[in-house]
Amino acid sequence: MKIGIIKETQKGEKRVSISPKIAKQLIEEGFEILVVKDAGESSQYKNSEYKDIGATIESRGVVFKEADVLVKINPFDEEELKLIDKHHILMSQLFHKSNPELIKEIASKGATAFSMDAMPRISRAQDMDVLSSQNNLAGYKAVIKGAYEMTKIFPLMMTAAGTITPSRVLVYGVGVAGLQAIATAKRLGAVVEATDIRMETKEQTESLGAKFISVDNEGEESEGGYAKEASEDYKKRQQEAVNESLFKADLVITTAMVPGRRSPVLITAEQVSQMKNGAVIIDLAAAQGGNCELSKMNKNVISNGVKIIGSTISPESVSTNASDLFAKNMYNFIIHLTEDNKFKWDLEEEITDTTLIVKDGEIRQNGKTK
Ligand code: NAI
Repeated sequence: MKIGIIKETQKGEKRVSISPKIAKQLIEEGFEILVVKDAGESSQYKNSEYKDIGATIESRGVVFKEADVLVKINPFDEEELKLIDKHHILMSQLFHKSNPELIKEIASKGATAFSMDAMPRISRAQDMDVLSSQNNLAGYKAVIKGAYEMTKIFPLMMTAAGTITPSRVLVYGVGVAGLQAIATAKRLGAVVEATDIRMETKEQTESLGAKFISVDNEGEESEGGYAKEASEDYKKRQQEAVNESLFKADLVITTAMVPGRRSPVLITAEQVSQMKNGAVIIDLAAAQGGNCELSKMNKNVISNGVKIIGSTISPESVSTNASDLFAKNMYNFIIHLTEDNKFKWDLEEEITDTTLIVKDGEIRQNGKTK
C-alpha cells in the first residue's frame, strides 16, 4: 500500500503529518512512502531526510495519482479535491461537523475518508488522538506567548532593589491544553488558578499545585468526553465565582471549546473593562468564535488597557515537536486499521466506526459522527 504525505497548503501552517522517523517505521511495516516535495521543509525536515530512509519525493500531481492513502493535517483544499478519486483513502482532520460541504464533495468523488478529529475518547485511542497531542503543545505555547506579551515576570523575585510579586494566571477550561498551560505557568513561578465545567478537573488542577475555582455545575452534562454547551445560568454562576480572580489576573488563558459549535463566551466586554491595566488574555478558542467577547482571530485587540490575543489551538510555532507527535498518532492509527498491509475495515470496532466519515462515496450515518 502506498501512503502519500501531502504538503500542507493552509496559510501559516508549518507542520507536516508524517516525519522522516515515522515514515521509516511505516516502511519497515511494509508500506511504500511518497512525499510531496518540500512537505517537511517548515518543520525542519528536508527532502533528503525522507529520501535517506527510503521514501520517494514527487510532485503533488504524482503523489495524488500513485498513492492509495493520502495523509494531511488540515482538511483537503479545493485544488486537492480536484485530484481525488474513488481509489483514495483520505486521512486528516476534516472537522466534519463544521464542514458538511467538504464531506459531500469527498463523497461525490467516491473516495473514502477518515477524520482524525473524530477520534473517540477512550483509553485505547489515546495514542492516536491528534487533538490531545496538538492541544498539549498549544497550552504550553499559550503561556510562552503570554509571557512575551506581558510587562511583568512570572516568579517571585527578591532583589536588593525590592521584591517582585509573582504574576497571577487564570486558566479557563482544564482539558488537555488547559492542563499544560497550568503546568507551564506553575513551572515559571506564577500563582495559578483554573476553572472548568467538569468537576473531575478539580483534582487534576490541584495535583499541579494550582487552585481550582469551583462553579456549581448541577444540570450541565458532557457527551462522550466532550463538554456540551453550558446554560446561561451556569455562565452567570461562573462569572460570579471567577470575577475576583479575573480582575486580579495578569494573564488569562481560555481553552473552552464545544465540538462543532461556537465556543462559549466566558469573558464579556463588561468583565474586561474591570480587569487590570496591562493584563493579557490569550484566547485559544478564537478560531471558533472565542471565549472572550472581544477576541478576533489572529489579531491583538486592546481594550481598556487589556491586550486580547485571538489565537488558535494549532501549534504551528512549535512545528517540529507538533509534527513528531502528529506523525506518531498517525502511525498508531494506520497500524490499528491495517493488517498485512491491507485495511481491515472492521466497522464493528469503535475507533474505525467513529473516525470513518465517508466509505466508498457514502457518508456514514453511524450516529457518533452525525
Ligand atoms: P476541549 O478542548 O473539548 O475543551 C477544553 C476544556 O474546556 C474542557 O475541559 C471542557 O470541559 C472545558 N469547557 C467547555 N465549556 C466550558 C465552559 N462553559 N466553562 C468552563 N469550561 C468549559 O477538551 P480537551 O482538552 O480535548 O479534553 C477534555 C477531556 O477529555 C480531558 O479530561 C481529557 O483528558 C479527555 N480526553 C480523553 C481522551 C481519551 O481518553 N482518548 C482524548 C482526549 C481528551
